[in-house]
Amino acid sequence: PFKESKGGLLSGTSLEECKDAVGFDNNENEPSVSITVVGASGDLAKKKIFPALFALYYEDCLPKHFTIYGYARSKMTDAELRTMMFVVYLDEVPMFIHGENCDEKMEQFLKRCFYHSGQYDSEENFAELDRKLKKHEGGRVSNRLFYLSIPPNIFIDAVKCASLSASSGNGWTRVIVEKPFGRDSESSAALTKALKNYLDEDQIFRIDHYLGKELVENLSVLRFSNLIFEPLWSRQYIRNVQLIFSEDFGTEGRGGYFDNYGIIRDIMQNHLLQILALFAMETPVSLDAEDIRNEKVKVLRSMRPLQLEDMVVGQYKSHTKGGVTYPAYTDDKTVPKDSLTPTFAAAALFIDNARWDGVPFLMKAGKALHSKRAEIRVQFRHVPGNLYNRNFGTDLDRATNELVIRVQPDEAIYLKINNKIPGLGMRLDRSNLNLHYAARYSKEIPDAYERLLLDAIEGERRLFIRSDELNAAWALFTPLLKELEEKKIIPEYYPYGSRGPVGAHYLAARYKVRWG
Ligand code: NDP
Ligand code: BG6
Repeated sequence: PFKESKGGLLSGTSLEECKDAVGFDNNENEPSVSITVVGASGDLAKKKIFPALFALYYEDCLPKHFTIYGYARSKMTDAELRTMMFVVYLDEVPMFIHGENCDEKMEQFLKRCFYHSGQYDSEENFAELDRKLKKHEGGRVSNRLFYLSIPPNIFIDAVKCASLSASSGNGWTRVIVEKPFGRDSESSAALTKALKNYLDEDQIFRIDHYLGKELVENLSVLRFSNLIFEPLWSRQYIRNVQLIFSEDFGTEGRGGYFDNYGIIRDIMQNHLLQILALFAMETPVSLDAEDIRNEKVKVLRSMRPLQLEDMVVGQYKSHTKGGVTYPAYTDDKTVPKDSLTPTFAAAALFIDNARWDGVPFLMKAGKALHSKRAEIRVQFRHVPGNLYNRNFGTDLDRATNELVIRVQPDEAIYLKINNKIPGLGMRLDRSNLNLHYAARYSKEIPDAYERLLLDAIEGERRLFIRSDELNAAWALFTPLLKELEEKKIIPEYYPYGSRGPVGAHYLAARYKVRWG
């Protein structure tokens, strides 16, 4: 159905036609929401933000009166923006194709999408956008959400112009900001200060898309609504916790950005640290955003700043396998040949509070490794006086329980237990109590961006980063990052597609840990 009618749709639709299509009724007072994606011509907008908005629309989660605007410098018509979104819908997001009435919904959705071309530092161009938004809003209470999907050096210009020229006059105005939030404590504080010249803290939604992942959100449910986990959640029973992120591809296409940040800033200081804070926090007073964020800040402020001796850095080098040559990080033309930027890092972190004293939290993050996965692994202590230890010979590690929360891919939560092998005699093995999401839940898991966009529209701040959290996170990593850069620490080189530097194993072994 969509393909048949796409000629009309993609070649432009008048505002009146759009209003008809969505049953726009000027006589009722339900507020409108305008979502402006600033940087609409970019990679993130195309691949994540617009598809997530469509998915929300498909699930009937967007407010009745919504309009989506793309804003960027590139010249584009409304029809061209819609074509771009449609091509992604057809080619790159196969999950949408399966839904019932999907094409029809897409057709309706695209009628609500528009484009305005403008500079990021032009109040006049944002004032033009404001005029267009007002027409769509039709005089009702107008709420406005701006999604800054642009490089960080233009955040402030865009925030300034959007807030001065295109804020809502009678509803809320919120701004979603994408990482990176600075490079260190100072630049992050400067960014926060500049944002606060134009916005209140409660208007700023700092996104960390890992907080929108299903299994990360489920962490608190797992802990606080199951009697069997929370009593074990401490140094008394947990030996170590591992937070693992690995990708089986390099920085292809993003080398320019990446070289200025490196894996520690790109993944550890935000995604993995956020998971750690949620994992380790005390029970919040309530599920209110401020109560949860208060507890996360306490964890971060109880942590020891990272030490150089507790960190291993690596960089991938070229590797030939099966006749295919995979590039080195420095083969990327946008990366300097002598770059020391880490594409891999492993670290041991410690929380100096009563619950976690002495428990190593090991993080490992890397690009161009042998697999793609994000996992939390919790290794429990040995059973004291375990009658069955002899079944494991001297390899006591194998006898301990391990809880694995596989964030992606193929979401799952499983607990490794010791079990008797059925039959005569007494032999044990390790088996899994397994909650495999695909087998248990038939519904597709929403993309993190869907959840986060919906939360921002609904004003739910639980999954966004507050400025004090951000400061605490940078305080942990900044001294180490400075030291790595000042001392020009040479990364350990590892072949593309390998398991990463062996140094990571020595680091873990120092804390009697074996990576899962
Ligand atoms: P892009 O580099 O694609 O930039 C987005 C748009 O910003 C471009 O289409 C371009 O639009 C404009 N732009 C780019 N460079 C400049 C410049 N130097 N001066 C002015 N305008 C510029 O970024 P992404 O879409 O990849 O990412 C957007 C934001 O999201 C960034 O902050 C990034 O760090 C973050 N992010 C991205 C992820 C990803 O997977 N891509 C993942 C997580 C975070 P035009 O020329 O039309 O104005
Ligand atoms: C981004 C990083 O924040 O997360 C990227 O900048 C990384 O380098 C990406 O590839 C991973 O996200 P996901 O959701 O694909 O695991």
